[in-house]
Amino acid sequence: MEPLRFDQVGITRSAHKLINNLSWKVASGQRWVILGPNGSGKTTILMLASARLFPSSGTVEILGCKLGKTDTRYLKSRIGLSAPLESRMFSATGTAIEMVMTGKYGDLAPWWHHYDSQDKRHALLLLGQAELEEKAEEAFGVLSEGERQKVLIARALMPRQAGFATREVELLLLDEPSAGLDLGGREHLLAYLENIMKNPQLSAVVMVTHHTEQIPLGISHAALLKKGEFMAQGPIEEVLSDSNISECFDIQLKIRYEKGRWWTARL
Ligand SMILES: Nc1ncnc2c1ncn2[C@@H]1O[C@H](COP(=O)(O)OP(=O)(O)OP(=O)(O)O)[C@@H](O)[C@H]1O
Ligand SMILES: [Mg+2]
Repeated sequence: MEPLRFDQVGITRSAHKLINNLSWKVASGQRWVILGPNGSGKTTILMLASARLFPSSGTVEILGCKLGKTDTRYLKSRIGLSAPLESRMFSATGTAIEMVMTGKYGDLAPWWHHYDSQDKRHALLLLGQAELEEKAEEAFGVLSEGERQKVLIARALMPRQAGFATREVELLLLDEPSAGLDLGGREHLLAYLENIMKNPQLSAVVMVTHHTEQIPLGISHAALLKKGEFMAQGPIEEVLSDSNISECFDIQLKIRYEKGRWWTARL
């Protein structure tokens, strides 16, 4: 069973094709990065992959469940999503640990859900992995941008309530986890992400980023999105070539791989 499978997927809004005839397979164990210009449809793909959006045409299968033929409440409990939009829905006075714990009930979790001591232990463990244990009781709103991003990722990894059981996240989706970070913040986040990529419980990870320098070690595959279509996809070392990157962003770019990182600059 593949964690993700898109077959000729299309999304149409007001006669515009946001996603066009997109086919994509993410096999178990793979870690993907999606790159592409603003408005090319990256977030839309993550909304499909997290069962928050249904395709207008084609089929989407997530963790073996076909969208439209599945109870998405249960499916969503197996998926972790960290997206900028999520943090805007939270009260600024809630603490970092409360923010992580709300991950237990998925998106739009109200504050009056029940959290027990085991949830608290787990949230603290996740904050510890993000090197943020000492910030657990700080208000989420006063944390730095980099700290907030890590809290959101920890929240996406919080085990989920599904009916009477609690489940570990199997598919992790990250939308621009490094957006707005300074150099130090980016390096700390990259180290955190590198550890997450090694987590064997995660059958797949898909992250979206704008900069190749923000791709952590452990990413195995890449997809380049242009106007709602993948113009290249496959093993990262095959996809991230000068010609592919230049075509994707409509500018002559040079990309090189050095010391575990992908560096891009104008020719
Ligand atoms: N509900 C909607 N109705 C109409 N257009 C939409 C809707 N949702 C998204 N779009 C449009 O779809 C396109 C793709 O949006 P999306 O957010 O997926 O792009 P993106 O690649 O994530 O961009 P960015 O890099 O800026 O985050 C954009 O042009 C956006 O305006
Ligand atoms: Mg986006």
